[in-house]
Amino acid sequence: MNTTHENWGSRLGFILATAGSAIGLGNIWKFPYIAGENGGAAFIIIYLGIVFTIGLSVMLAEIAIGRSAQTDAINAFRKIGKPGWTFVGVLAVITAVIILSFYSVVAGWCIAYIVKSAGGTFSGMDAEAIGGSFGAFIGSPVAPIVYHGIFAAVTITIVIGGVSGGIEKTSKFLMPLFFVILVALVARSVTLPGAEKGLEFFLAPDFSKISAHTVMAALGQAFFSLSLGMAILLTFGSYVDRQTNIGKSVVQIAFLDTLVAILAGLAILPAVFAFGMDPAAGPGLTFVTLPTVFNSMPGGYFFAIIFFVLLTIAALTSSISILEPVVAFFTNMGLSRKTATIGSGVVIFLLGIPSSLSVGIWSDIHFIKGQGFLDSASWLTDKLMLPVGGMLICIFTGWVIAPIAIREVSGDGEPGVLTKAWMFILRYVAPIAILLILLSGLEILKF
Ligand code: PHE
Repeated sequence: MNTTHENWGSRLGFILATAGSAIGLGNIWKFPYIAGENGGAAFIIIYLGIVFTIGLSVMLAEIAIGRSAQTDAINAFRKIGKPGWTFVGVLAVITAVIILSFYSVVAGWCIAYIVKSAGGTFSGMDAEAIGGSFGAFIGSPVAPIVYHGIFAAVTITIVIGGVSGGIEKTSKFLMPLFFVILVALVARSVTLPGAEKGLEFFLAPDFSKISAHTVMAALGQAFFSLSLGMAILLTFGSYVDRQTNIGKSVVQIAFLDTLVAILAGLAILPAVFAFGMDPAAGPGLTFVTLPTVFNSMPGGYFFAIIFFVLLTIAALTSSISILEPVVAFFTNMGLSRKTATIGSGVVIFLLGIPSSLSVGIWSDIHFIKGQGFLDSASWLTDKLMLPVGGMLICIFTGWVIAPIAIREVSGDGEPGVLTKAWMFILRYVAPIAILLILLSGLEILKF
């Protein structure tokens, strides 16, 4: 069964598409705040340490499995491992479907905010009024679902275009644009009077804040930010040709992802502090605090629009990467790419509808831990499915297919010291670290 096999057009295309997957809402609305709260530069140092050891190792494991198997995630485990491992691929693909369903809803809010900013909806409003307008918008039954549908349709259209003709081409166009916008936002933010306070919050090192809790926060963020554990890298790896040095590629991808997280901090926090607002993470920061900041900032009308364009690009290059593993599986089952993409895209769209309604008219319906549908879906994937998937991928690579994996990264030569370190991390360090993330996410262990 080896029917998919498309390839990336170039190594740069592979790097940009994979970096586009990694660079998402997590870099922009989560990293700056977590870093600021957890010791600034001290946190960033720990985060870098984790990304370039455990993060890189798991990334490389996924890509190595994919390239070696040359097939989709579900078939890969069967093909190069043992049939009993197929469920790891199934778990990862289901995780991807659930994540995309609510990611697309939130991405729809980003598109809506491009339209609202351009239309001047927020002009003259204070934070409270903007907060009220945000709550009313996401709670309304129709508009957010329409934007979710638009976002899903764009994602589907790109993925129908194929690996090099759709995903790669889009990433090669959007990622440079993303960088230009981000640098423009940084330049605006750090030159505002009072920007220093934000820089201090973000960067001043405070080693006293470093604790087991901080390290767990860094691990969890690294894992999510690098898009690990949902078969994305595995699928993208299967499109990489044999000449490409995948070890070098993962370093470049992780570097870009971390660079963007740091630039996002420089774009957001100085502006937030310059206008005396409280920093926060997530939707509150993006859809309430920042529009308020843009209202008082010189050039704010323009910067608000480009900021929401930036968010939409970040979300889009991630969403195409979450759809692809699902599509790859169904094309291997014999469906055409078009049917597979539209079919899975429509299912994902439908699954997103209860997420959207759960922050509005269905807010009384609770699932996990008293949370609505969207928060339950996010909790289930983030706290349970991703860590379990990630841990199994490490165990599979380190213990079940070690010789294949080693050959995949070092060719026919003797494994060097880096390869040996990689195996050590995959066998011992990463599974234990991920187990701790899992236990702390489930609140079985408290850090
Ligand atoms: N890595 C992306 C981010 O940091 C998130 C993401 C999650 C991307 C799931 C793809 C799949 O926001």
